[in-house]
Amino acid sequence: MKKISLTDLQNKKGKLVCLTAYTAPIAKLIDKFTDIILVGDSLGPVLYGFKSTRDVTLDIIINHAKSVVKHAKRSFVVVDMPYGTYENSKEVALKNAKKIIRETKADGVKLEGGEKIHKTINFLTKNDIVVMGHIGMLPQSIKGKPTVFGKKKEEKKQIADDLKFIEKAGVFAVVVECTLESVVSSLMNKKNVPIIGIGASKKCDGQILVTEDILGMTNLKSKFIKKYLDFNNLATSAIKKYSKEVDSLKYPSKKHCY
Ligand code: KIV
Repeated sequence: MKKISLTDLQNKKGKLVCLTAYTAPIAKLIDKFTDIILVGDSLGPVLYGFKSTRDVTLDIIINHAKSVVKHAKRSFVVVDMPYGTYENSKEVALKNAKKIIRETKADGVKLEGGEKIHKTINFLTKNDIVVMGHIGMLPQSIKGKPTVFGKKKEEKKQIADDLKFIEKAGVFAVVVECTLESVVSSLMNKKNVPIIGIGASKKCDGQILVTEDILGMTNLKSKFIKKYLDFNNLATSAIKKYSKEVDSLKYPSKKHCY
């Protein structure tokens, strides 16, 4: 199976299909259908039950990314740099980005922020680290509930400035999270790299969602999430059936015994 390259992503006709994976079974399941797999720090809340993505450590994300890279034979794999691993110093950011790439063999890293971290992004790309940007609503920075970013005049300006800064710093693509369609429309006229939306309308060059959300494995309610499967209900019926069968000695039957 041919691995998707940076050039393939840049030349893709049609929309970029992106999803998250944190584990081998999910990576194997989605790899045939995705262009980019993100080992997102959303794994903190989704897998570990953490209150926020801020509690994810470098070691946690590296361990999950190792397993995803091993099982994603085709998709371009990007790993989130956890909160606290890149904001304060560009040298520390480079050390941590190199550690992620060296230990996981992933294709790139993603950092949250625009104007504030453009010098760090520039330092990473100058040192041959492939970087994906992330602007708009930033889960690592918010206090409290996520809200739509871009309704206020100053937010609209911020998002456009952020895009300009990080494009110049060398990102190959940018995730834009939770913003208005009108904001994306104005970005699309000026942008030079693919814009991947999450809650950012169909105007984007591609879409990304958390796989567990679209499969119905989480209970997160958000306007932009579409549930393509009701996994939790289906799984509950299956587990209930197993429990009854163990209790009534229906399982294991002869065919399950040696
Ligand atoms: O952590 C994450 O899953 C993300 C999203 C863009 C899906 O950053």
